[in-house]
Amino acid sequence: MQYATLAVHGGLQDDSHRAVAFPLYLSSTFVQPDSEHFQSYAYSRSANPTRASTERLIAELEGARHAFATSSGMAANALVFELLEKGDRVLLSSDVYGGTWLFATKIFEKRGIAFDVVEDFNAYDFSQAPADVKMVFIESPTNPLLTVTDIAKVARAAKARGILTVVDNTFLTSCLQKPLDLGADIVVYSATKYYAGHSDLLAGFVVFNDDALYERLRIFSKALGGVLDPFDAFLVTRGVKTLPLRMAQHEKNALAIARHLEHHPAVETVFYPGLASHPGHDIQARQAKGSGGVLSFQLNETAFDLDRFVTSLRLFAFAVSLGGVEPLICRPATMTHESYAPEIQQKLGITRNLLRLAAGIEATEDLIADLDQAFEKAKR
Ligand SMILES: Cc1ncc(COP(=O)(O)O)c(C=O)c1O
Repeated sequence: MQYATLAVHGGLQDDSHRAVAFPLYLSSTFVQPDSEHFQSYAYSRSANPTRASTERLIAELEGARHAFATSSGMAANALVFELLEKGDRVLLSSDVYGGTWLFATKIFEKRGIAFDVVEDFNAYDFSQAPADVKMVFIESPTNPLLTVTDIAKVARAAKARGILTVVDNTFLTSCLQKPLDLGADIVVYSATKYYAGHSDLLAGFVVFNDDALYERLRIFSKALGGVLDPFDAFLVTRGVKTLPLRMAQHEKNALAIARHLEHHPAVETVFYPGLASHPGHDIQARQAKGSGGVLSFQLNETAFDLDRFVTSLRLFAFAVSLGGVEPLICRPATMTHESYAPEIQQKLGITRNLLRLAAGIEATEDLIADLDQAFEKAKR
């Protein structure tokens, strides 16, 4: 089946009453036949039918064997980080999501886990990697600078040294990029974003093929308890049905906005891999079906006032997050990426005039007109 068909028909089917929409099982516990024999579901922290249906759907869309649904994207990352032991080291993309950075800086050290930031994974020589590296954690494109990593190249080099490759695929979803097919071991998602698609819940997924990994993560998931609640799982399934349609419009809008801003007097630099001028454009075109709906740009603050610009927007909400049908804009340095120390932000290019924009699914002309009227009001 094609992706768009699976998005509508994938997941578990309801055998009891042949409901078209998979039913919402809100029960925390399930009756067992006797003290020696147990049915598939016992207690909703371990497994719940509605959640299981959504997990199956996300796994099928990725072409993967397993998926765990978690209570947020960060809960998915945290579950994967449980695979690390004291003394291990992680290689991280340089500008990962602020929450992931928070985890690395506040929790890895406490657990005796080291991490190194790799500014350009495409040029990284794995033969020089320290012997204690056990995991590579990549975002491609990164949040917020949209840097692109050649996933196949990194995964191949990492695998040769017994290093696990984890890809945070939140910005593209399996609709546009399939990291497991490129050789990665695990894919993580904030499904709060495009999978759910309506800015009304938090959810995450961990997706992978390896059966031994399934057993380890199943125990961690049960012990940690950060699972996705059935109602939110139901809403994710509902959101996924329109994911390919939404993604096409998000991408169309993002590309048009990026092109519009590229030569705009209010803008210094645009970061979007769909632009031919982006340094990762060729890799992106090779490894993904598109560049998604998120872009960043640096505002020319000498001539335009940032606060006046973001508060003059009528369609774009000045709010963190992305992936919902409505457009959002935020300032990473003081919002999503405030967990980075100012000197690290400066070094990585998360400058104070950087704005991250998530295109909605509205008519392209209306989004561009909204940006232009706000630029006009923000002129110094
Ligand atoms: C790339 C990326 N990964 C992970 C997360 C964390 O997801 P959540 O907010 O669902 O915990 C986010 C949230 O913005 C994100 O952008």
